[in-house]
Amino acid sequence: MKRVAILISGGGSNMVKLLERLLGSGQHGAPCLVLSNVPGAPGLAKAAGLGVPTACVDHRTFGADRLAFEHRLDEELVKVQTDVICLAGFMRVLSAGFVAKWEGRMLNIHPSLLPEYPGLHTHRRVIEAGDTQHGCSVHRVTGVLDEGPILGQARLEVRAEDTAESLARRVLELEHRLYPAVLERFLRDDFEPLVLS
Ligand code: GRF
Repeated sequence: MKRVAILISGGGSNMVKLLERLLGSGQHGAPCLVLSNVPGAPGLAKAAGLGVPTACVDHRTFGADRLAFEHRLDEELVKVQTDVICLAGFMRVLSAGFVAKWEGRMLNIHPSLLPEYPGLHTHRRVIEAGDTQHGCSVHRVTGVLDEGPILGQARLEVRAEDTAESLARRVLELEHRLYPAVLERFLRDDFEPLVLS
């Protein structure tokens, strides 16, 4: 049974969906920690409500010393014998050194059809570009932001009436379907990219 830690920075809606899947039957993984860089992140209370241990490492207390921050993150992850890390709305860029230690065992969900639109404000950029397709991607985390081998994608048709806000809502619903399905397969060593629509 692989021990899964989930890193969040805010509401943790993806984290809740991952926990609900992991706490279901027949899984090859179990949640070991929900870890936030933001004290009081609403996701922490949601995780505690589901009976999952939580921790917070406030990145602000480390100032510009990113490596000290990451060392504390790593301590928390090692303390609970983490095997797999899921980044779920985690808004800090991780250094190549941190990623290298966990490479192959760390996933992220990004609200675009990677390799399109790495980085922030993906929904606004899709609207501005007049794209007709959009969606989300789950990928292995590598040293390059929002890159890494794709493990799953879910896509939708952009509607004429869509705004960045309506797209964000519709894509988040896709994320909630995609991430648990990809994680379940990943934990069974099934790395065949999953495509949902
Ligand atoms: C959302 O914008 C989602 O697209 C991205 O992270 C943000 C927060 O998600 N993955 P969550 O509700 O904290 O999971």
